[in-house]
Amino acid sequence: MEGDGKYYEIKGLAKLKGEVKISGSKNASLPVIAASLLTDSEVVLHNVPALNDVFLMKQVLEELGAKVALENGNMVVNTADVSKFETRFELMNKMRASIYVMGPMLARFGHVRVAMPGGCAIGSRPVDYHLTGLEKMGAKLTMDHGYIEAKCNKLVGDRIYLDFPSVGATANLMMAGVLAEGTTIIENAAEEPHIQDLAWFLKSIGGRLSGAGTKTITIHGVTKLHGASHQMIPDQIEAGTFMVAGAITHGNVTVENVQIKDLRPVIVKLIEAGAQVKESRNEVRVIAKKKLKPIRITTLPHPGFPTDMQPQMMALLATADGVSMIKETVWENRYMHVAEMIRMGADLKVQGTTCVIEGVDSLKGSKVVAPDLRAGAALVLAGLSADGDTTVYDIIHVERGYENFVEKLNALGADMKIAESAS
Ligand code: EPZ
Repeated sequence: MEGDGKYYEIKGLAKLKGEVKISGSKNASLPVIAASLLTDSEVVLHNVPALNDVFLMKQVLEELGAKVALENGNMVVNTADVSKFETRFELMNKMRASIYVMGPMLARFGHVRVAMPGGCAIGSRPVDYHLTGLEKMGAKLTMDHGYIEAKCNKLVGDRIYLDFPSVGATANLMMAGVLAEGTTIIENAAEEPHIQDLAWFLKSIGGRLSGAGTKTITIHGVTKLHGASHQMIPDQIEAGTFMVAGAITHGNVTVENVQIKDLRPVIVKLIEAGAQVKESRNEVRVIAKKKLKPIRITTLPHPGFPTDMQPQMMALLATADGVSMIKETVWENRYMHVAEMIRMGADLKVQGTTCVIEGVDSLKGSKVVAPDLRAGAALVLAGLSADGDTTVYDIIHVERGYENFVEKLNALGADMKIAESAS
């Protein structure tokens, strides 16, 4: 994906202090917006973050014929007039989560055509589990000219085992299952908080399902769904990113409006590294006075340590007192930030899926490029803690996933701004 000429200018040696309120979850909002296609009644969603990916999903639905309004975090979706069945290459290419329309469109209309998603920075990102699952439920698939077309008379529930607990495939098959005939059982399902949020939404529109948040999800199909209003859960990766921001700047940051249970893996690792973490009902405070200790992290599907927090933790461990290790097991190519952090003076060596991190005294402000969303966020955190000024280019990636990132960091005492190159 191309940058848009905007970049961050960040003053180093920041010490963040204060409170930050976490926005609604991007990765919960995307499937829930798509799931609005399952009903011809109006759906109202609250706490929807104003992010590019959300605007793209809105556009995907609008191009299918839906009416979608978004104001102040409230989204109203009405899909009564949907009359098209195709998602264009240009939209799919900008956002792979457009694949989420497949399950609901097939279930409600028996027809959908989407451009084949391509690869992207963090891995080849195939969609074979989505397609195999939908085929098992009776969809007939054809591939032509870079598009996947799926048709069926009626989806029929089946027992579907996922080789890997894919978030996207679990969500797509849940959405397909609620309007399928009979019972769908998804085994080795993803257990992420956003899967649980999708289940709450599906239940609120009349879906009959149980087990979301465990490895087996059972869905009893119904013939019609109705409207509802739903509040999106807070974004656990945004929360984790601000927790690391507190630790990496040796600050004192209270992250508000969170679901503590979703943050457990990050809390445990921050404590292991020597940060103080104080929990209360829906907020968590991170204080890091001393240099942090080295630790080992293996990324895993939920409830393991989230891959979407791996780059931020690497930035943190880059200045820990000793040798840390990170093993990435979810994506095959999620070390794009390593070369950028090395520019900042980090001592990092990648061996296969493992990265060995030899803590250095301090990172040095440098010019770096954000290769993807979380890697870009990690470079911002590194820049805040570094000695000197840092410029992060290609911030279009970062802005996809963090609502008011600069405003929120500056309110905590950071000194950073968005600038734009002339060309
Ligand atoms: C979701 O992506 C998130 N995106 C990602 O967050 C996150 O990194 C990922 O889940 C893992 O937690 C959204 O929710 C929009 P997967 P998704 O299907 O659903 C392989 C961010 O930073 N796989 O769980 O695309 C795949 O290649 C983003 O916000 C297949 O082999 O991830 C990967 O190795 C980046 N075949 C693994 O499974 C398939 O059909 C996990 O993928 C599907 C996936």
